[in-house]
Formats: sequence, structure tokens, C-alpha cells
Amino acid sequence: MNRTSVSSPANIALIKYWGMRDAQNTLPNNASLSMTLSRCVSLCTLAPLANGTTDEILWKTSRGALVPADPALRAGIEHHLQALREHFDHWQPLRIATTNSFPTGAGIASSAAGFSALTTAFALYRGHSLTHPALSDLTRLSGSGSAARSVTGGFVQWPGNARLLSGPALQIAPARHWPLHDLIAVVDARHKTVSSRQGHLLANSSEFYPTRLTLLPDRLEQVRRAILERDFTRLADAVEREAVELHLIAMTSQPPVFYWRPATLAVLEQVRQLRREGLDVCATLDAGPNVHVLCTPQHSPKVFAALRKLPDIQRWILDRAGDGPRRLEQHLY
Ligand code: DP6
Repeated sequence: MNRTSVSSPANIALIKYWGMRDAQNTLPNNASLSMTLSRCVSLCTLAPLANGTTDEILWKTSRGALVPADPALRAGIEHHLQALREHFDHWQPLRIATTNSFPTGAGIASSAAGFSALTTAFALYRGHSLTHPALSDLTRLSGSGSAARSVTGGFVQWPGNARLLSGPALQIAPARHWPLHDLIAVVDARHKTVSSRQGHLLANSSEFYPTRLTLLPDRLEQVRRAILERDFTRLADAVEREAVELHLIAMTSQPPVFYWRPATLAVLEQVRQLRREGLDVCATLDAGPNVHVLCTPQHSPKVFAALRKLPDIQRWILDRAGDGPRRLEQHLY
């Protein structure tokens, strides 16, 4: 069987994509910037089926069983397959299996990892490389804008040129430039009830959103410089401000969207306390209650020792900056 398999990471946004200017083509209102992760990954195996059959879309459970994908996952994959088929002009039916190494739909960018994995696997299957220039633009057509950043490793800006909002993502520094750790506090692993897509469409209804858009260019620059100069203090200031602002917009949208839980706030408070004590640590959240605690590798053991004492954390995922998608020789079926 001619199988192609990839592993593609999730990413955590340091400057958030929130609000769209073109929902059809998934074009953002602002440039965003993320750190690609290394252990939170989606795996995807793809192989051609005989002509005249229909696509088989499968999910691999944590117990290793291959089951038909649930209707929502199937619909998302079929929708994106249409764009991939048109782009690569390849119409053969496919068998696709996928799985995640981390909770799905809980604000840990599972759709970013999943659609990046599907796009990359399709491109490899059609004989292209992991550096194929269309990957980022193609991946965003899935409807997951943050997926456009997951096709590249390290620190990634989308679009790379902040003045050209229809452009592709670009790496601003590789993971080895600053191998930050990301300790993810899973406060609630359940599927979130308001999707990011709904959140994007509501952003404009917050009276604070226009102000946010005027503040973002300077903040993006602050984060870029902090990364390039490995300046943690500068990074922490901008990243926490940004995370709170994303949720401020969500909470003041009409209708309001509240993603935080009491344990979310407890982690944020403890992180601020540890920073006051001199540790290189800051926190951010995407559209969910789970907190990404960023820290330098040197301070990571002390940070984790303090944070793991907090009650009401369901699970910790210890992740770090990573290098982007890679081809796998082991397949899901
Ligand atoms: C808050 O529309 O890319 O994570 O498709 O669910 O991954 P998913 O979300 P998407 O919006 C991402 C919103 C965000 C911020 C970000 O990642 O930039």
C-alpha cells in the first residue's frame, strides 16, 4: 500500500489571531505570531483507494482502535480535501486516518495540528517536500487560520508580512534559537462549547476591538524583538497583556464568551507570583480554559515544582518549542 504519514505539531499563539476580514478564505484582521510545539502533535496517514470507491475517514482512539471519524471531524476533513484536490488536481479516493497526542478541541490548537498534518501529508503524497511554498496558504483554506502557522517550525508569524494580510506564514526564528518550554495546565479537557470560528465572527461586536487593532502592531513588534533578542522580560509583558486582551474581547462580545474557569485564574496568579520571585515565566491562553506556561529551560524545573502543587489541574503536558511537521515511517494503519 502506498501510505504517506506525517506528524504535525500544534502551536501556541503569542500574538493572537482573533477576528476575520474574509471568512470564506480565512483571512485575518491582524498578523499573529506563535511558537510551534513539539509534543502536542496530530498524526495523519493517507493512502489512495481504488477509483469508484468513497473516501474512508478514520480516527485512531487512545486504545489503538481505528473507528469511523465522528460526523464533525469527517465534515471538516472532507471540506479541506476538496481544496487540496483542486490545488493538486488529484481526485483519487483516499483512506485517511488521524489522531492527536493531546486533548482535542480544548484550546490546544488541535485543528491547527490536524489540518497542518492533512495538508502536509497530501503534499508529500503528491511528491512535494515539507518546504513546499503553498503549504501555509493551502492549510488556511481548511478554515483554521492558526493551522497556517503549524506547517513551519519555531517562531512563526502569519502573515509574514503584517501589511499583506493574505500572505503566507513565515518563520522568524527556528526553535533552537530559543528553546522555550511550554507547561500546559489542562484545567478542562472537554470540547469547548464556543468554537474559535464563532469567536472570530463575534470579535467585532466588542466595543474594545477597534482599540485592540490599533495596539497590535507595536505589540507584535515587541514580541518579535523579544524573541530575536531572547529578552524574556519584554516577552512576558507583551504575551500576558495579549492573552488577557483576547479574553477581554471574547468576554465583551455580544453575546459574551467566557472560556476561563476558576483554576485558570489560579494558574495565572501563581505564574505572576513566580515572576515576582525572579523566575523567567509567563502565561498565555488560546480560546479555551487551559493555560500555557512559558518559561526558559533553566527555570522550568522550579516553575513546574511550584505549579504542580496547584489543585484542580486535570493534567500537565510538558511541551517545548519544536521544529514543525515531519514525515513518519510508522503508519496509523
Ligand atoms: C485564540 O480559527 O485558527 O487560538 O481552527 O480552532 O484552531 P482553530 O482556531 P482558529 O483561531 C485561533 C484562535 C486562537 C488564537 C491563535 O491561535 O492565533
